Amino acid sequence: MPIEPPDGKEPTMPASEENEKFAFGLWCLMNRGGDPFGEPVREAMSQVAAMEGLARRGYWGYEFHDNDLWPINAGPREIGKVVATLAKAMDRTGLRCASGTTNLFTHPVFKDGAFTSHDPKVRALAIAKAMRTIDAAAELGAENFIFWGGREGAEVDIAKSPVDGIRRYRDAICFLVQYILDNKYSMTVTVEPKPNEPRGDIYLPTVGSVLAFIATMPAKIGRRVGVNPEFAHVKMAGLNVVHEYGQALEAGKLFELHLNGQNPLRYDQDLSFGSDNPKEGLLLVHMLESNGFDGIIAFDAHPYRVEDNDGVWDFVERNIRNYRLFRDKARQIDADPRIAELLDQIGAASPSLVGRYSAAEAARIKAMKFDPDALATRRLPYERLDQVLTEILLGVNFK
Ligand code: NOJ
Ligand code: MG
Repeated sequence: MPIEPPDGKEPTMPASEENEKFAFGLWCLMNRGGDPFGEPVREAMSQVAAMEGLARRGYWGYEFHDNDLWPINAGPREIGKVVATLAKAMDRTGLRCASGTTNLFTHPVFKDGAFTSHDPKVRALAIAKAMRTIDAAAELGAENFIFWGGREGAEVDIAKSPVDGIRRYRDAICFLVQYILDNKYSMTVTVEPKPNEPRGDIYLPTVGSVLAFIATMPAKIGRRVGVNPEFAHVKMAGLNVVHEYGQALEAGKLFELHLNGQNPLRYDQDLSFGSDNPKEGLLLVHMLESNGFDGIIAFDAHPYRVEDNDGVWDFVERNIRNYRLFRDKARQIDADPRIAELLDQIGAASPSLVGRYSAAEAARIKAMKFDPDALATRRLPYERLDQVLTEILLGVNFK
């Protein structure tokens, strides 16, 4: 149900755009609202009902975990049947498969990690499970394959050295990327950082640690691997979302992203995108749009536990609405002459005075005359700039 404005006029939403690739995790819609303290509150929703609902609401794709679709012990026939059902639903709805991923965190066998477990049998099982899911994802035309290592971490560091843990983690990812390359699957691979929960501490907690991890892989493999940051995970670490996504984008490694909402330094809340801190959401969308990000924009959020199955669709709609609203506001910001003037005054786009390194260039820069006291007097009207942005966000235009 569209939300009616108070004056009763038809709401005018910013329109959808041709190149937008919005996706949702099926697990988010199929989530029945159970939490560590309470039982599920909603009826089960089938994968196909979830896919149909997404397609009707303007979504481009869906994401899945293997065990959202088939049980952990499923054989090739059972998996094949589910894949065929999904493929049919995709044909009917036009919905695409954005990403697949393998659940390496729910079953007790992974209680001390999957790729990083001490038990070589558990590590091998995890790799075999991932290969089967990669095959299914390839059949569904997934553009990306996500690795989120929720159980890859520790509470007791004397039990497992992070040096061994991270080495095992890299060996597993490299093995699986090589499998993807050998099978000529075109999907990219992303590693999703998170600081903690369900483990006390998870390996690869931030964008920077995933980028450094990728840099230790053989080049041919590392080229296929990127990072998919998640808003909530960044906020759980108390970090700046614009900076985290920005660093991944600058490195050419932002292959896809997960959006949601989260109050800082709390348990994983997985709120709707834009529901917690609109200014942060706006600045993130502004950064993505102004740098031409055109990858998968997936929402990985959960409906409020109080909602019933109708409320799930209000939830689905508000995520895409908020992204489009922020995109519209981002364009208003770029088109606003006050912002342009202030950025100009700040010198935001001043060209560099330092050229490519050469001995001569180094000597020339060394010989330049600077007056630090005079340079320090430049006026930087950040208060006004931030206020203009805030007023655009709030939709007011005071003199
Ligand atoms: C569940 C995690 O909560 C989510 O952040 C992650 O993207 C998916 N699993 C994929 O593994
Ligand atoms: Mg996620």
